[in-house]
Amino acid sequence: MHVCVVGLGYVGLPAAALLAGAGLSVTGVDVNPVVLAALARGQVTIQEPGLPEVVATSVAAGQLCGAAAPVPADAFILAVPTPVRGLAHKRADLAAIEAAARAVAPLLRPGNLVVLESTAPPGTTERVLRPLLEQGSGLVAGQDFWLAHCPERVLPGRILDELVNTDRVIGGIDTGSAAAARDLYATFVRAGMFLTDATTAELVKLMENTNRDVNIALANEFALVAEHLGVNVWEAIDLANRHPRVQFLRPGPGVGGHCIAVDPWFVVNAAPGFTPLIAAGRAVNDGMPRHVADLVADALGGLSGRTVLALGLTYKADVDDLRESPAAGVITHLRHEGATVRTHDAMVEDGTPVADLAAGADCLLLLVDHAAYRDLEPVALAPRMARRLAVDTRNFLPLAPWTAAGFSVVRLGDGRSR
Ligand SMILES: NC(=O)c1ccc[n+]([C@@H]2O[C@H](COP(=O)([O-])OP(=O)(O)OC[C@H]3O[C@@H](n4cnc5c(N)ncnc54)[C@H](O)[C@@H]3O)[C@@H](O)[C@H]2O)c1
Repeated sequence: MHVCVVGLGYVGLPAAALLAGAGLSVTGVDVNPVVLAALARGQVTIQEPGLPEVVATSVAAGQLCGAAAPVPADAFILAVPTPVRGLAHKRADLAAIEAAARAVAPLLRPGNLVVLESTAPPGTTERVLRPLLEQGSGLVAGQDFWLAHCPERVLPGRILDELVNTDRVIGGIDTGSAAAARDLYATFVRAGMFLTDATTAELVKLMENTNRDVNIALANEFALVAEHLGVNVWEAIDLANRHPRVQFLRPGPGVGGHCIAVDPWFVVNAAPGFTPLIAAGRAVNDGMPRHVADLVADALGGLSGRTVLALGLTYKADVDDLRESPAAGVITHLRHEGATVRTHDAMVEDGTPVADLAAGADCLLLLVDHAAYRDLEPVALAPRMARRLAVDTRNFLPLAPWTAAGFSVVRLGDGRSR
C-alpha cells in the first residue's frame, strides 16, 4: 500500500515515519524545500525525541521518500497547518488545507482514501474538503473514494509514543470512510479507535483543547485573585487538588503553541452566540503576558532603563516550538516600556551562557520551565547581576537556594512574594 502524507511537520512527519515503519510505502510531501532536503538525507528539521532515528531508518530502507507535490497513492493524509489570522477576534486560515486538497484531487482514483489530520473548524471535512476533492477529481466521496477526519492528539516531546498508544477518534463522512481510515491507522496504532462522523470528530478535537484552555484560564484567574488577596495560588492549588474530584491546571504567563491558543477560536467562530465562556477564557489567557510585564515593572519600580534577562521563549517547557508563544508578548511589553531585554532559551540554539547574559541585569525573568533551567546556579548568578531579583512565572525556581543567594523571588500568583 502506498500512502502520500501532505505536510511534514510535527504531525505529518512522525505519522509518515510510523506508516513507513509498519511496512507501507510512504511519500512525504512538503512545500518547504528545507524539509525535503533534510528528508532526502534521512534527517529532520524539528526536535522530537526518537524522530531522527525512525526517519533515518525508514529513508535508508527505501520506505519513506520526499516530494514537492503529491503523487498517486492509495491513501492521502493531509497534515498541513491551520493557523488563525486577526488580532482580537481570530479566524481560521484554511488556505493550506485548500491548497493540499487542490493538489491531491486530480490524482484521486476510485477506492482511494483521503484523511484530514489537521485540526479544523467543525464542518471543514464536509463543507470545504469534500467539494474541493469532488470538483477536482470528478469522483463522489463516499461512493468512489473514502473521506475521513482523524484528529491528532499528540503531545510534542512524546509524539511517537502517543501516536501509537493514544486512543484515536476517527470521523468518516460515512461509515465506509470511517472504517477505511481505521484500517489505515490499524497498521501502527496500538490503542482504541472510536468511529464517528467527521464533524463530531472535528468538534471532539476542539473540545479537548478548549477544555485545557478554559481550565488554564481558570487557574490564571485564581492566580490574579491570589495576588490580590495576598495568598499563594500554588499552595492553594495543591491543596484544592487534594479534593478527589478537583484537578486544577497550572497558571503561567499565557497559553501558546499551534493548538490550545488557536483551536478555541474555531469553536467561538462556529457558534458565536453560544460561547461566552470559551471567549472569556481566551481573553484571560491572552491577558497574562501584560500581567507578567506589570509584575516585573512593579518589582523593579518601573521598566525604563532596566535590563531584564528573559529565560525561555518557547510556548511551553522542553520543546523548541516558538509558535504563538506568550513569552514573545511579555518581551514586547517590556521593551515597549523601556526595558532592555536579553533572551535565552535552553531548547533553541543560542550559544551565549545564562551566566554571561546575567551580567549587569536587574531582573531574571523565568518564562518557561525547561528542565535545563534546573541547573541554574543562583550563587554563581548573584554577583553578576546589578540587582538580585527573580520573577518566576512557573513556580519553578526552588526558593531556598535563590533566597540564600540573596535573590528576592517574586512568583506569579503568589500574593505573599510581592
Ligand atoms: N503540533 C502539534 O502538536 C499538533 C497536535 C495536534 C494537532 N495538530 C494540528 O496538525 C496540523 C499540522 O500541525 P503541525 O504542528 O504538524 O504543523 P507544522 O507547521 O509543524 O507542519 C506543517 C507542514 O506543512 C507544510 N505545508 C504547508 N502547506 C503545505 C501544502 N499546501 N502542501 C504541502 N505541505 C504544506 C509546511 O511547510 C510544514 O512543514 C495543524 O492543523 C495542527 O493544528 C498539531
